[in-house]
Amino acid sequence: MSIAICPGSFDPITLGHLNIIRRTSRIFDRVVVCVMYNSSKTSPMFTVEERLDMVRRVVAKYPNVTVDSSSGLLAEYARQFDGAVVVKGLRAASDFEYEFQMNLINKKINPEMETMFLTSSGKYTFLSSSVVREMARYDGDLKGLVPDEIIDDIREKAKQWRMR
Ligand code: PNS
Repeated sequence: MSIAICPGSFDPITLGHLNIIRRTSRIFDRVVVCVMYNSSKTSPMFTVEERLDMVRRVVAKYPNVTVDSSSGLLAEYARQFDGAVVVKGLRAASDFEYEFQMNLINKKINPEMETMFLTSSGKYTFLSSSVVREMARYDGDLKGLVPDEIIDDIREKAKQWRMR
């Protein structure tokens, strides 16, 4: 059985992430979406539990996709799935440089771990969780940026942020 791991901080999950997850689910028998920590993103909008809940709701329609979280290294996490391939989306050349470096360090930690990249769909090239957080902060329209099921979660959180 082929297994893919789609890791990310998903703070929050965007339609760009979902596009990569859906396409990965057509290629692999099983996909594990793993909500992880990115140490360079120090003040997340959502807790890991909130992110897990949102990701679970939006991938519920894909029968071969499950959701998990880890506070450890991706390369260590991947060891539990024999032969699993990490799949990530690439939006632009700037993503490539970062991902290339990540791939090298991950290979050093776990030489068995392979990483594959799917190019992002053209319509989501501009999209990132930070764009969504910025839009939410200014009460911008989130339709077409994130799955409809989580728009209210983001609006509610942004409201709490503005009241701080
Ligand atoms: O959605 P993101 O923030 O681009 O995802 C990045 C993520 C979470 C996949 C990356 O930061 C990660 O792998 N974090 C786990 C810790 C780790 O393994 N870091 C790389 C080696 S230092």
